[in-house]
Amino acid sequence: MHVTHLSLADFRSYVTAEVELGPGVSSFIGPNGQGKTNLVEAVGYLATLGSHRVSSDAPLVRMGADRAVIRAAVVEGERRQLVEIELNPGRANRARLNRSTQVRPRDLLGVVRTVLFAPEDLELVKGDPGERRRFLDELVTARVPRLAGVRADYERVLKQRNSLLKSVAMARRHGGRGADLSTLDVWDQHLARSGAELLAQRLALVAALRPLADKAYERVAPGGGPVGLEYRGSAAEAAGEDPALPAGPASREELAALLLAALAEVRPREIERGVTLVGPHRDDLVLRLGPLPAKGYASHGESWSLALALRLASYDLLKEEGPEPVLVLDDVFAELDARRRERLAESVAGGEQVLVTAAVPEDVPSALTGTRFAVADGGVERE
Ligand SMILES: Nc1ncnc2c1ncn2[C@@H]1O[C@H](COP(=O)(O)OP(=O)(O)O)[C@@H](O)[C@H]1O
Ligand SMILES: [Mg+2]
Repeated sequence: MHVTHLSLADFRSYVTAEVELGPGVSSFIGPNGQGKTNLVEAVGYLATLGSHRVSSDAPLVRMGADRAVIRAAVVEGERRQLVEIELNPGRANRARLNRSTQVRPRDLLGVVRTVLFAPEDLELVKGDPGERRRFLDELVTARVPRLAGVRADYERVLKQRNSLLKSVAMARRHGGRGADLSTLDVWDQHLARSGAELLAQRLALVAALRPLADKAYERVAPGGGPVGLEYRGSAAEAAGEDPALPAGPASREELAALLLAALAEVRPREIERGVTLVGPHRDDLVLRLGPLPAKGYASHGESWSLALALRLASYDLLKEEGPEPVLVLDDVFAELDARRRERLAESVAGGEQVLVTAAVPEDVPSALTGTRFAVADGGVERE
């Protein structure tokens, strides 16, 4: 699929922007701080309903404005669609699909598909487990959009369960018995059900991604692999089992039983601390290069190559399974040496739509220049 028109109002630094896009490569060139990332961030938002840079919507709304709008016309084969989202920080966002307002933001998922690679992705390798969980969950949702509902359910149940645990913990501290523990049992059931679904999707994803990540790393940094991906489950660990869960198809019932067993195991500690200690929100994806974990061992260059390989693998996976995603390469060439630049360019230049940003044109390999846009002074102009 590809985006044929992007329209912004009060998004980030843009009062308005109207950008006509074609298939193939488009490059956005301009000095730092002029709004290149803001532009591709908007495209990414339509695909994931989130920003790759910030976790709340407030910074996405132009300073002084009270809402932002991102609109895109999208083509997939013969089909044209119009998607629109209005960001209202502190209130519900509003969506439109093909001019219908009878849709939730979540219903837009799957229309725009993107894989975005940006300097922030170094955190996939070096950062906290939360970065890798977000990576998995965004990709799971791109593969199976209904997972957005499961993720929202899980988050909601987790929040309610945590506040119940907190109130029990408080009451105990003050000598009371607190809330009825049977209520906690009910929340455990809910948590196990949506948690098992999310876990199953993550495990299936890890299995699908493994061979692709290994191949992509070989393309980016020949001879430096193999790449290993291992899903570590907090529930298995708490239940006294091997935390490395087998990637691949898994039974929801077994995963739910595992979660329930782990919750039973940690309950005294949870009541003491007032927080849910096991479940998908505490899991990690361990990345390896050869025998060593990447985090803490890989060099800067290796970490960077591994992050890139994960994104290229995501791109290959989505392409295999459905409409080809838009590939976004945000300011990544300055970090790559000439050889890796050329390799990356070769491996993505034939994509249906590739959006590239860079501060100076010299950073962009010639195969990835495509249609050039200048980004400066709050505007985007086709050159
Ligand atoms: N909500 C906002 N309101 C106004 N300006 C913003 C907002 N968010 C970011 N900016 C501005 O956008 C600029 C950064 O744009 P960005 O797209 O990241 O730059 P680059 O071209 O280097 O990728 C900064 O100057 C920043 O002040
Ligand atoms: Mg930028």
